[in-house]
Amino acid sequence: MSSKEVSPPLFNHDHLLGIEGLKETEITQILDLADQYVEQNRQTNKKKDLLSGLTQINLFFENSTRTRMSFELAGKRLGADVINMSTSSSSIKKGETLIDTASTLNAMRPDLLVVRHGSSGAVKLLSRKVDCAVLNAGDGKHEHPTQALLDALTIRRRKGRLARLTVAICGDVLHSRVARSNIHLLNIMGARVRVIGPPTLIPSGVEKMGVEVFYDMEEGLKDCDIIMMLRLQTERMHGGYFPTVSEYFSLYGLDYDKLSHAKEDALILHPGPMNRGVEIDAAVADDLTRSAIQEQVEMGVAVRMACLDILTQTKRENG
Ligand code: NCD
Repeated sequence: MSSKEVSPPLFNHDHLLGIEGLKETEITQILDLADQYVEQNRQTNKKKDLLSGLTQINLFFENSTRTRMSFELAGKRLGADVINMSTSSSSIKKGETLIDTASTLNAMRPDLLVVRHGSSGAVKLLSRKVDCAVLNAGDGKHEHPTQALLDALTIRRRKGRLARLTVAICGDVLHSRVARSNIHLLNIMGARVRVIGPPTLIPSGVEKMGVEVFYDMEEGLKDCDIIMMLRLQTERMHGGYFPTVSEYFSLYGLDYDKLSHAKEDALILHPGPMNRGVEIDAAVADDLTRSAIQEQVEMGVAVRMACLDILTQTKRENG
C-alpha cells in the first residue's frame, strides 16, 4: 500500500449502541484489543496518552457502580479528560428534555459521550443529536453492549473460545438488557444459548432470537459450560412476576444443588449488582473455583478502554 492510500477503518461505526448488527470480526477485534489492555492494567503504570486532548462525558440517568466507574477509569487510563454528569444535580431535574441536554453537551464539543438511560432507544435518539461518538452504557430493557463484551472476554480467557459453548442465561430475562446483548453476541460468535426462568420473566417469542427456552433450572443447566445469573430487576416490574423471594430462590436461585447439573467445570457469571439469597446463593457467588464475578469487573475496564480506543481511531488518525 502506498503512503497516500488510507487504510480502511478497522471498526466502521460512529457509535457503539448495541451488539445487534456487529460482525464476528468486529467483536473479535474489540476482544483482542481488550486483551492487551488487561495486561496494561496489571502494570504499576496503567496510564497511556492515547486519548490525550479528548474529552469524555459520562451521562448516567440511571444508577450504576461498575459501569460508570469503569468507564471513568478506562477514559482516565487512556489519558482523556473525563467528566461525570450527575443527573440528580443537573438541569434535568429542572425539566430539561433529553434532546436539549444532548444539544447543550454537544456545544461543549466532547469527543465521547457515555450514556445510560432508563428508556429503550433513548441512547440512539441522543446519538443523532450530537457530533461525537456515543457509547450505550445501558438503555432500558434494550441493550448493554459493553457488558456483553466484557462477559465474552471473561469467557474467552477462561475457556479459550466462545464458539460451540453452551451458555445458560438465567432469571429475569424479560427486563434484562444484559441478556439481550449477550444473546446477540453469543449467537454471532457461534455459541449455543439457553434462557432459563419462570414463564412470567421470559419474553414471549424469545426463541426467534435464536435461544432455547427452559422453565426448569435442572433441565436447563444440564451440560452447560457457562451459567449467567441475572438480578430480579424490580425497578422495571409493575405487578407480580413471582410469588415470594424465597419461592423464587428455591426454584431459580443458583445453589450447589442446581449447579451440580451443569458441567463440572461450568463457570458462573453475574453482571452485578448481586442479590445474595435471591438469584444466587452467597457461598456459590464467593466460590472462586466456580465464579468469575470479580474477574468480570476487571475485564470491564479493559473492554471499555478498547471501545473508547476503537471509536476514536479515525478521529485521532485524521488529527
Ligand atoms: C446491569 C445493568 O445495569 O443492566 N448491571 C451492570 O451494568 N453491571 C444489570 C443489573 O442492573 O442487574
